[in-house]
Amino acid sequence: MAYGLLKGKRGVISGALNEQSIAWKVAAMAHAEGASIVLTNAPVAMRMGEINQLAAQTGSAIIPADATKDEDLEKLFQGAKEQLGGPVDFLLHSIGMSPNVRKGKAYTDLNYEWYKQTLDISAMSFHRMIQAAVKTDALAHGGSIVGLSYIAAQRVFPGYGDMADAKALLESIGRSWGYHLGIQKKVRVNTVSQSPSKTTAGSGIKGFTGLFDFAEQMSPLGNAPTEDCAAYVISLFSDLTRYVTMQNLYHDGGFSSTGATPMVVEKIGGEE
Ligand SMILES: NC(=O)c1ccc[n+]([C@@H]2O[C@H](COP(=O)([O-])OP(=O)(O)OC[C@H]3O[C@@H](n4cnc5c(N)ncnc54)[C@H](O)[C@@H]3O)[C@@H](O)[C@H]2O)c1
Repeated sequence: MAYGLLKGKRGVISGALNEQSIAWKVAAMAHAEGASIVLTNAPVAMRMGEINQLAAQTGSAIIPADATKDEDLEKLFQGAKEQLGGPVDFLLHSIGMSPNVRKGKAYTDLNYEWYKQTLDISAMSFHRMIQAAVKTDALAHGGSIVGLSYIAAQRVFPGYGDMADAKALLESIGRSWGYHLGIQKKVRVNTVSQSPSKTTAGSGIKGFTGLFDFAEQMSPLGNAPTEDCAAYVISLFSDLTRYVTMQNLYHDGGFSSTGATPMVVEKIGGEE
């Protein structure tokens, strides 16, 4: 059911690779809630071609941009303003990739060139994206920016490797920009810390299936589906949350506040 929560709003959504992507769900729901959007992803991701289907479904333009390149990002926001007929009310950063994780390099044996890439792609890109939007005067007064995070920013999940450091940086960048943009333009910036989800990025994590099942059994509500993550992000883009900013918000079925559950304790042979 749609509520018209984003009626008349303009937005830029990054990171929709395929139907499983969290960004894909956000884009589909933003469209259903009345927004006009521009989609963006890395030029290499365009080759998969699936984003064209989402663009057709949501009546959106696609502007390719590598989130580690400032010139691409400035073109993105210039182009978005033109396509949408004005500055953007909301922006989604839904980007993550670690060469170390992808190539099976443990946290105790990192390749530092890859480590730099992890931080650049998965965290600094959040800063770059917002800075490019500010420089091109593409952010509307009272707008909302969301980045996607994971609880490995606060607690150790060994298979998550250097992405944990990237998420900690991402959350800090969100807080810092939230301060500056709040003062400048009443724009709010938050990160949403989502449950493990079966997407291309998620499934690339070592031991993902075990982690997914563990989180499922450690969460009173169960793992949060990506559709529900999209709904939460939409609420943050809407006028219903105009004074929520500089927060890392858990969307995880209660995982982050749970110490133990009978399901998990029984599995290791104990009694709850
Ligand atoms: N899947 C999970 O378990 C999970 C849990 C919590 C948070 N997240 C976060 O959600 C976000 C979206 O991931 P997802 O799970 O939807 O997976 P996904 O693989 O569908 O999305 C990741 C996106 O990042 C894009 N990307 C990679 N390098 C880029 C670059 N240089 N420039 C621009 N885009 C680039 C990819 O093309 C892809 O679209 C990520 O930040 C991820 O860390 C995922």
